[in-house]
Amino acid sequence: MAQQPKAFIFDLDGVITDTAEFHFLAWKQLAEEVGVIFDRKFNEQLKGVGRMDSLERILQLNPERAVMPLAEKERLAAQKNANYLELIAKTTPADILPGIEELLRTAQESGVKIALGSASKNAAFVLEKLELTHYFDYIVDAATVKNGKPHPETFTTAADALGVAYSDCVGIEDADAGVTAIKSAGMFAVGVGDAQHLPHADYRVDSTDELEFTDIIRRYEEHQAAD
Ligand code: BG6
Ligand code: MG
Repeated sequence: MAQQPKAFIFDLDGVITDTAEFHFLAWKQLAEEVGVIFDRKFNEQLKGVGRMDSLERILQLNPERAVMPLAEKERLAAQKNANYLELIAKTTPADILPGIEELLRTAQESGVKIALGSASKNAAFVLEKLELTHYFDYIVDAATVKNGKPHPETFTTAADALGVAYSDCVGIEDADAGVTAIKSAGMFAVGVGDAQHLPHADYRVDSTDELEFTDIIRRYEEHQAAD
């Protein structure tokens, strides 16, 4: 008989709150400074990707700036983070995306363990601002792992800390790189976003308000039974 999953591992930016938009705006502001214009389509490949890797990808768009001293890259990355921190300064629990707190509550009440699997160095700070920290049994952020998404380490580290087998975990992501990381970890991937960007998700919804605990469990069980 199919078993209920034992852990949910949530991405933060773009799943729990709409900080994905603030990362985009903060990078866009920075990119103009280095003579690069990039659009939302390009931004899709930055989602889930760490700060320095994102900067490298942006710099590649301008051959004249692709090579620069490390100190200058660090200055640009710090500038982007300053832009970002300004944009999230007013974040409150009102910025939790629809359906998320109910999903966290239902999962917790059902005995499912909950972890965060984020590529952001600001993850713990953002969770605090949203007043959601108490739902999480474990937090993986950029400082916890060596290999960022799409490498599975973010998700496997969370599962190991929770003591749950990878096949008993559900990962929830809005990014192409994030869904790839979940799948590479051998977990069930729930994608939030359009089919064009997340064709590899095991179960996909368009937006967080469609994330229902019972639907996720049913899809997970169907997937296990088909294996
Ligand atoms: C990820 C975001 O969660 O964190 C990326 O999807 C972001 O857009 C990355 O670049 C790193 O975030 P931070 O806060 O450490 O710069
Ligand atoms: Mg995300």
